Amino acid sequence: MNKAEVSALFAQQFNEAPSFVIASPGRINLIGEHVDYNSGFVLPAAIDKYMYVAVSQRNDSQILLHATDLNQNFQTNLDAALQPSSSGWPNYVLGVIDELRKDGHVVSGFNMLITGNIPIGAGVSSSAALECATVFACKHLFDLDISKQSMVKIAQRAENNFVGVNCGVMDQFASMFGKADHVIKLDCADLSYTYFPFKLEGISIVLFDTFVKHSLASSEYNTRRQECETGLAALRQQFSITSFREATLAMLDTVADSISDKVYNRCKYVIEEIGRMEAACNHLLAGEIGAFGTRMYETHMGLSELYEVSCPELDCIVENCKKENDIVGARMMGGGFGGCVIALVQTANVEAVYNRINTAYQNKFGRNMGKYLMHIGDGTRLLD
Ligand code: GLA
Repeated sequence: MNKAEVSALFAQQFNEAPSFVIASPGRINLIGEHVDYNSGFVLPAAIDKYMYVAVSQRNDSQILLHATDLNQNFQTNLDAALQPSSSGWPNYVLGVIDELRKDGHVVSGFNMLITGNIPIGAGVSSSAALECATVFACKHLFDLDISKQSMVKIAQRAENNFVGVNCGVMDQFASMFGKADHVIKLDCADLSYTYFPFKLEGISIVLFDTFVKHSLASSEYNTRRQECETGLAALRQQFSITSFREATLAMLDTVADSISDKVYNRCKYVIEEIGRMEAACNHLLAGEIGAFGTRMYETHMGLSELYEVSCPELDCIVENCKKENDIVGARMMGGGFGGCVIALVQTANVEAVYNRINTAYQNKFGRNMGKYLMHIGDGTRLLD
């Protein structure tokens, strides 16, 4: 969508032109899953699918939200402390406002229209995109002196404190800092980052959607975080380390008796994934795409068997990807319990590959899986 189209929707709703229109993308992640909250590196990229928000300032303290695609309105005001809404979606906006105010930024009433084309519940972070769009809109609307890094942290805290998902920083960072045709190697320990060119001749990034909505995801996600914290605490009792980055499998074996099997497996996955991510980046730099794909399959095994965030639908798709010569690598992506598999597929054969895997999927689950071709785009920005 362009600025004129989003502005027209805004005008229909609020009878005026918006002051700003913002586009904020969803994200993919090539490798480095469930390590952003464990001081690891991740390799995400912004996609060319967006949440769009259009905003105008009001003369009162009202916040009026309209979600075009849901055809729902929400209204509240800034006179008292903001409360989470049972409708769900307003919380991504309200959470950001709440965090901005906690940081001492002055926010007054506004109108906001929300629309977009990011598949919801597919694990491509439509929620982070809306949080980033909101903080970016507020920066411009209220002329806030706030850096991109701070906006990322505010967006993440909105999700942690208001939405109640104790997520890491990857999704918000990728949405805000995305760059066309590049993946971001992000050090989640200190938010330093480098852009890697990612344009593979003849290979496309394809998502296969299970259409399983990850309803269990937020509570299980928070549990995984706690399990990692328990494991790290046990390691730190024995070794002078600060994070999983310095931990080894040998260290983990030393403390195995003091933690449950579950916690052991979670830690094993995290330590392996941090190492795997580093190896995968070296493969990319060396142009060894086959080896990169192998690392992706290994990540899936770890997520499925040790971290236990996969589901039968995701496992079925990845198993069938492995049988395809035209697929370089594949794995479940994002938080898990549903959503998408990310696969690197020979561009010429995407359709044929999809049809074969979909037949296997249909036979097992009695319904189709989805398919999206992904292009790496730019991060959150004003449309003009
Ligand atoms: C979700 C979270 C991210 C990250 C991934 C798993 O997308 O929001 O912070 O932890 O899961 O890698």
